Amino acid sequence: MAAAEAGPAPGSAPGSAPGPGSAPAEPELEPLRLRRLRGDGFFEVPAADRLGRCRSVKEFEKLNRIGEGTYGIVYRARDTLTDETVALKKVRMDNEKDGMPISSLREITLLLQLQHPNIVELKDVVVGNHLESIFLVMGYCEQDLASLLENMQTPFSEAQVKCIILQVLKGLQYLHENYIIHRDLKVSNLLMTDKGCVKIADFGLARTYGMPPKPMTPKVVTLWYRAPELLLGMTTQTTSIDMWAAGCILAELLAHKPLLPGTSEIHQIDLIVQLLGTPNENIWPGFSKLPLATQYTLRKQPYNNLKHRFPWLSEAGLRLLNFLFMYDPKKRATAKDCLESSYFKEKPLPCEPELMPTFPHHRNKRAAGTALESQAKRSKP
Ligand SMILES: Nc1ncnc2c1ncn2[C@@H]1O[C@H](COP(=O)(O)OP(=O)(O)OP(=O)(O)O)[C@@H](O)[C@H]1O
Ligand SMILES: [Mg+2]
Repeated sequence: MAAAEAGPAPGSAPGSAPGPGSAPAEPELEPLRLRRLRGDGFFEVPAADRLGRCRSVKEFEKLNRIGEGTYGIVYRARDTLTDETVALKKVRMDNEKDGMPISSLREITLLLQLQHPNIVELKDVVVGNHLESIFLVMGYCEQDLASLLENMQTPFSEAQVKCIILQVLKGLQYLHENYIIHRDLKVSNLLMTDKGCVKIADFGLARTYGMPPKPMTPKVVTLWYRAPELLLGMTTQTTSIDMWAAGCILAELLAHKPLLPGTSEIHQIDLIVQLLGTPNENIWPGFSKLPLATQYTLRKQPYNNLKHRFPWLSEAGLRLLNFLFMYDPKKRATAKDCLESSYFKEKPLPCEPELMPTFPHHRNKRAAGTALESQAKRSKP
């Protein structure tokens, strides 16, 4: 990235006028030098890249709107050059004075580095007529799990749930190995193609992390999927916040309804305590020193009620859920731990992605108003 500063490149001759009698030369573009944002000095922009190389959004035929989130509107569109169906996510520039919003810059820089079957593919970034219309071109996925769960007549079978969550875990393992925390895992950010391939999407809140972890804002992750350490104000975040969310998603797929649908932060903590029991220093060293631990009075609840919520689930299934719901983030399952769980090796075995059923394309049929309404229910409080 660089700050623009037009001017002659070092050593370049100032635009010399053609001599008498010579053919009029093509007006030459002045060499453009940009100041480096990282480190000192300048670098020269090659003449061919001078006007940028982004394709125009006009080369895409918008078919219908499929989603509108916090950071942008998403359309299903046809690439008129390749005839491929893609998703176009418009970058929201509503209140931006300083150019592109940081969430979109993060999403673009991270997605460009990532390549994995279970991560949404960013194909290109294209531009519209105005400086502020920028679109992300992504591989199109026919479903998102939130709309799918809302519209399904019969819940997913356990074999299908295993197939979905295994793919989420593989995507997470890849992200975490690459030092990326997604920070907003939820069913509406999980997409599925008609070939049964599940992809993690929406990297607007994702961050890279280092060691030791640096403080980050705790107001991440949609409430229902937010880990207890975030609710209690811990500011150093690790990959384990994604693992908590993965546990909530697994439970939601199994039960066909959200596991912990809190309406406020305190209600969210209370729902967690009702389900898993009250945390203490023994099971979670450092718990009592968390910024909000003394601010909330947690109800006294000595039992773990997961087994009552999922009476039909096998021992291995319950073990996996409990591992994902460890209060102490250091003890919580990693994506690798989960992938090795015996739950995925016992019957019913995970179904193959190609054998997943296909579902009606509700998002294309629905009027935009209805789609927005159902999304709003799951939006951040
Ligand atoms: N590649 C894609 N293929 C198909 N649908 C997509 C794709 N990307 C996004 N969508 C749809 O658009 C919706 C919003 O996209 P996304 O989550 O990336 O945007 P957002 O503005 O960050 O949303 P939110 O704040 O609601 O999480 C998704 O829930 C999904 O329904
Ligand atoms: Mg989203």
